Amino acid sequence: MPPIQSPPMKPLNRLLEGNSRWSERMRTEHPDFFGKLAVQQAPEYLWIGCSDSRVPANEIVDLLPGEIFVHRNVANIVVHTDFNCLSVLQYAVEVLKVKHIMVVGHYGCGGVRAALQPQNLGLIDNWLRNIRDIAVKHHEELQALDEAARMDRLCELNVIEQVLNVCHTTIVQNAWARGQPLAVHGWAYRLSDGRVNDLGVSFESLEQVREEYQI
Ligand code: CO
Repeated sequence: MPPIQSPPMKPLNRLLEGNSRWSERMRTEHPDFFGKLAVQQAPEYLWIGCSDSRVPANEIVDLLPGEIFVHRNVANIVVHTDFNCLSVLQYAVEVLKVKHIMVVGHYGCGGVRAALQPQNLGLIDNWLRNIRDIAVKHHEELQALDEAARMDRLCELNVIEQVLNVCHTTIVQNAWARGQPLAVHGWAYRLSDGRVNDLGVSFESLEQVREEYQI
C-alpha cells in the first residue's frame, strides 16, 4: 500500500489565504466598506501607468479600492489606435467623470530601456517603437547625457509625450469643450525610494494644447 499523503498544496493557496485575511481585516476596520463599494464606484482619478509589478497604483498614493480607476500597460503608453486604453479613458471621463488623469511612468522602466536596445525582442518591438520615436525626437537633449541620466530623462520624456497624447484625444478635448473639469498630469515614480516626482506638466484646458491638435 502506498503511504497516505496529504493533498498537494495548491500553488495559489498563499494568495487565497491572503485574500481571506485582507477581507476580514477590511470588514473589521471599515464595516460598511464592501457594502458601499458593491453598489457603485466614484473614483476621482484615472491612473495610466506601467504594468511593472513594483508600481501598483493604489498603494503608492495610499488610497483604498474604489478611489482610482486604473489602466496599465508596458511603459505607460497612450496610442491613438489602442481601443483598450481609449475605452478606459472614455469610460473614466464620460461615465465616471474623473477630475484628474495621471500618466505615471517610473525610473528604471524595462520597457523604456528595451526600446533603445538594438536586438530583436519580437512583437513588443512594435509597441516599444513609440518610445524610440520619442528618443529620436529628443535626440539632442538625450545625447548630451550619460547613460543613466539618459534613461531617466527618457522615462520622463515618455510620460510628458503620453500626457500630450491623452490631451490630443477626442475624449479629453470633448470633455473640455463641454466645460467638464478635467486635468491631465505627468508623474515619474522612483523605485529606489517610493517617491513620486511631479513633472510639472498639467493641462486643464483646450487652450494649453498646441493649435495643430485642437479639434
Ligand atoms: Co515600466
